[in-house]
This record gives sequence, C-alpha cells and structure tokens, in this order.
Amino acid sequence: QSAVSTCRALLHWYAGVSRSRGMPWRKPYDPSLSIDARAQRAYEVWISEIMLQQTQVATVIPYYNRWMEKFPTIRDLAAATIEEVNSLWKGLGYYSRASRLLSGAQKTVKDFNGRLPDNAKDIEAHIPGIGRYSAGAICSIAYGEVVPVLDGNVHRLLSRFLALHAQPKAKATLNILWSAANDIVCGVKAPREEVMEAVADDELTTGARSTENPAIGYPGDVNQALIELGSTVCKVRDPNCEECPLRDQCAGYLWSSASKTAAD
Ligand code: ADE
Repeated sequence: QSAVSTCRALLHWYAGVSRSRGMPWRKPYDPSLSIDARAQRAYEVWISEIMLQQTQVATVIPYYNRWMEKFPTIRDLAAATIEEVNSLWKGLGYYSRASRLLSGAQKTVKDFNGRLPDNAKDIEAHIPGIGRYSAGAICSIAYGEVVPVLDGNVHRLLSRFLALHAQPKAKATLNILWSAANDIVCGVKAPREEVMEAVADDELTTGARSTENPAIGYPGDVNQALIELGSTVCKVRDPNCEECPLRDQCAGYLWSSASKTAAD
C-alpha cells in the first residue's frame, strides 16, 4: 500500500520535470508500438544507459547524438570495427564500456535476430556487458516490463528513504534495496485509470500522449523518476528535502526532522 503511494508521488513529480531536460533518448513509452520499434528503443536506451554510467547527462548528449548518427541501428553497430567504436567513444573514458557494446550488439544480431530480448532476465543471461541495472533500465523504459533499477543514485536515495544504516555493498543490504525498488515500481500494476488520475496535474491531460504532453505512468517512468530524483535532488552532500516529493514518506527525513525538534 505505501509503495503504491511512493510510486504515485514519484510519477506526479516526474510528470512535472520530465519534459524540460532535453535528453534525446527519452521518449514517452507507447505500448502500441510494434516489436521492432520497441527493440529500436531498447537499443537507444542501452547506448544511453551505458554512456551515463559515470558520465553526466550534459556530457553524454553530444556523444549520444554522434553515436546514433554513425550507428542508427544495432545492426550498424554490430558491423563496426572496434577502432570506429573507440573513436566515437574518445573522451568518455572507461573504454571497456565501448567494446562491450560492440560485442553485445554482435551477440544480439547473431542469436536474437537483432532485437535485444524483451525481459531483463534474458538480457542479463545472454548479452555480455549488461548487468542487472542496465537490463532493468532497458526493459522497463523500452519494453514496459515491471522490473526495478538500482544504480548509485537510487541506492543512496532508498537508503535514506528507509533510514537504512547498513554496509552499502553487503549482499543483505542490496537485497533490501532491490526489493524496495521492486515494490515501488510494482505500484504501476494498479488499475491504469487510478495511476493516471493520481499522476495528473494541472498541466497534464489524463492519459493524453504526445511529445509535449507524454503519458506518465509506466514502469520506465517510475524508474527514471527514481534515477533523476536521486541524481538531481537527493544528492550526496545535500538531500534538498524541501524539494522532495517523497519527504512525507521518507524515514530519513522524519528521523532528521525529529532529531532537530528534539534539539530545539
Ligand atoms: N542516468 C542514468 N540513466 C538515466 C536516465 N534514464 N535518465 C536520466 N539520467 C540517467
């Protein structure tokens, strides 16, 4: 029940911020797209997510655009040489990311007819270089699969949200956080009209879908809301609680405001 309200608060917040950030890989999820169109989205989300590992959004945008010009489809990438791939990667660092993209594309063309599998389990099992986070991001954003994401930003956000004091990398800690992320994204399984109603705000027409006015209410929206809230609001040094849509549900905030009150 409370994970459902967390999910809705995230979607409502995301509806207000998501249009303004100019990320070319961010397109509204549309369940009526063909399998091929969604597989193309999966390719685009994959490239963006790998570039975004350890690199800022603003830096990634021009790299992403050049990449898509040179390798518009996964088949174009699979046919490339490592030298071509590396030259487009120049300046992004961690070149192993680029070579794993190339081998992942080659495997996808060879074994999956050029379409990344449409579920996170199969991607993780069969495509080299795609771990649980990236598989979750690709499948939720491009295919609408209800699967969680946990990157560094979401890890920090949820640790605060649960007021979890535990070794950040311990297996038990990760299990708790993945499971919390899963509970939250599962909030979209509520009836569609209910989700959309909870998410609608003054600027959004419930259920309408266009570039200016995207439908917000799919698993990829919940996950991108978590990622973005973690990276832009719930920051390492400053959690900016006054701007946070989850403040009223956040155990970390309740704890810090209770200890402030006690000190007064
Ligand atoms: N960082 C990693 N993935 C992202 C996404 N999908 N949107 C914005 N920032 C991100």
